[in-house]
Order: sequence, then structure tokens, then C-alpha cells
Amino acid sequence: MMAKNSKNLFSEENLNVEPIQRAKTIPSRWYFEPDLFEFEQHYLFQNHWQYVCHENQISEVGDSYTTNIARNPVIILRTADHEVKAFFNVCKHRGGPLAVKKGTKTVLQCQYHGWTYLDDGSLRGIPDWNLVELFDKKDFGLEPVEIKVWQGLIFARISKTTPELSSLLSGIEKRISPINLGDLQFHSEHVYDVECNWKVYVDNFLEGYHIPIVHPELANLLDYREYVTETQTWHSLQHSPFKAQESMYSQNGGEAYYYFIFPNMMLNILPGRLQVNTVVPVSPTKCKVIFSYFYDDVEAKQKSGLIDDDIAYSHDIQLEDVEICEAVQCGLQSRAYDQGRFSVKREQGVYHFQSLLKNEFRKAIQKS
Ligand code: FES
Ligand SMILES: [Fe+2]
Repeated sequence: MMAKNSKNLFSEENLNVEPIQRAKTIPSRWYFEPDLFEFEQHYLFQNHWQYVCHENQISEVGDSYTTNIARNPVIILRTADHEVKAFFNVCKHRGGPLAVKKGTKTVLQCQYHGWTYLDDGSLRGIPDWNLVELFDKKDFGLEPVEIKVWQGLIFARISKTTPELSSLLSGIEKRISPINLGDLQFHSEHVYDVECNWKVYVDNFLEGYHIPIVHPELANLLDYREYVTETQTWHSLQHSPFKAQESMYSQNGGEAYYYFIFPNMMLNILPGRLQVNTVVPVSPTKCKVIFSYFYDDVEAKQKSGLIDDDIAYSHDIQLEDVEICEAVQCGLQSRAYDQGRFSVKREQGVYHFQSLLKNEFRKAIQKS
């Protein structure tokens, strides 16, 4: 599956995990080589749980949400029995995409030639099929996709070889208690197209080292000296107290948690508010970042203007991050750069992510 030069991409030196005090950052080629991108699609994104949407984004019977997991189209829907089910969004006739038709029964209909499926995935209706021989509908049901719901958040995986979702998220529930993300209401989704490899964006999320330079306004809000990064097996947490002054984020008291869940999901949790970010790889040098906003009381917070302020503020910060990430992508692709080093004090999260990545690549190579 890999081209000839993959050996160099995955040399022992590149895969070796050294202590942070001595470690180098991952090689620059990992941020733009098409072979590596393909490898990640196949061995990383097909092999890990991916966040899809919140349960209350599909609260009514027949509601659905479509997404792609490592280029596999997936549809999640609320069935007539009020269950959440997921299937590959691929019709068994000639691969067309499905849409949900609401009625007395929830039915999935292919948007190409109109084959219909029940919400358990079984094939129901086929137009103009009477002359076909040696055909059994039972062999042409939709492929199911495994899903799990944690605190209202729906995750899907298309391969069984992944670590369990519970180990990915272990300890978060206890840490954020009494907050329960399942109680929050969905507000809106915002998509940013970013001209950088998905890992540039993730690296950037994982450290507060850049805050004083890239986000001077945010630096005024946070107590940067108290900024802490904690790492667990499959996720890391950054938190920082707000400075005492009044701001829309400090007024409720409580703490802010910025979680990163391997490989590409972020949970930004503040009292009464959740922002989920998913970093979707698009090409070796492009990604899409989806921001989903949730609040404990959308109506009240909308009235008070808090939601507009929150989204506008996050948008400004995001534009600063996008600008620096796109510049970093150019730097990584330049002749001047290959590998750098880490601040032991400020870049624990980036080191943790890059070490997990190396371990996952090593496992994948051993299997492939
Ligand atoms: S591809 Fe679905 S009906 Fe033809
Ligand atoms: Fe940032």
C-alpha cells in the first residue's frame, strides 16, 4: 500500500519515542507526503472511534446526520423505535447515497434509482426488478456501522481493531462532573477550511505556548502562569484559570477544560457551554475543522447575547489559529525545516500526541 520511499518515512529513528527532554518533533514530511496521508486514512482514521454528532441533533424520528469516516460515507439516524442507528451511506445497487424519508415508518431511499431500505438496514423496495434472476433481497441490506453514545455524544467506528471508547475517554466524566454533556442543547455548526495538514491544526491546539504571541487578547483573559497540561493514555487536558476580571467566561465561575481525544477531536468545556471541534483530513495539505456549539439553555443565552458573543469570540481566535497554521504548513514544506524540539514546560500535549502517532504507525506497519 505504501510507495517505495515509505521505509524512509518510517525509519526507526522517526518512530522512536524519546523522553520529551530529548525528543524531536515528527519529520516535516509527515505533514505533506501523499503516501503518509493515505496510510493515515487507512490505518489511523479507519481504526479509531470518530465523533459524529450529538444525540439531540437527531432527536426526532427520521432525523439523520451524514458524515464521512476515512472517506467512508456514513448515515446516522433516529429510527421509528427512537433508537440511534448507523449504516454505511452506500446503496447496495450501485453505490448511491441514501436519504431519509419520514412517514409512518422511517425509510431510507437511495437518491440514485430509488431502492428503499427499512431503518434496520434491510432492503425493502426495488423499482423495475421483475426480470432479475438469482437475487435475494437478504443479501443486499445496508452495512451497519458500530456506534456508541457517551454523554450524548455519538461516536462511530468502522473497524473493530480500535481501542475501546471507554479507554479513550476514561476519567473525563468524573473530572467534569457535575457537568453532563448529554444535558446540553445543540445550537449550531460552523465549518472552517484550513490550508494545512490536520496534524498542524492538532499540534497547535495542544499547546498554550503560542497564546501570548498569537492570541494577545486571550492571554489577557487567562492566567498563563497557571496553564496546565495533563496527559492520559488516549487524551490530554489543558486547563487554565481565568483572571479574576469580569469576562463572559469568568462570570459563572467554574473551570474551563480543553480536552483533546486522539486522534482528531477536541472538547472545549466551560460552565453551561460545550464546543466540539473535529479536525477532518481532506488532503495532505488541507483539513476541515468543524465547530459544534452546545449550551445548557439556548433560548436564555441567546436572549442575553451570550451565544453571539461566544461564537464571535471563538471565530476571531480561530482566524488567528488558521493564519498561523497555514504559515506553519508553508514552513514545514520549505527546504529550511525538518524536525524541531519541544518546550518541556509548555508542549507536553504536542509531545503526547506525536508519541501516540508514532506508536500507532509502528503498530500499523507491523500489521501491514
Ligand atoms: S445506486 Fe441506489 S438505487 Fe441505484
Ligand atoms: Fe490558538
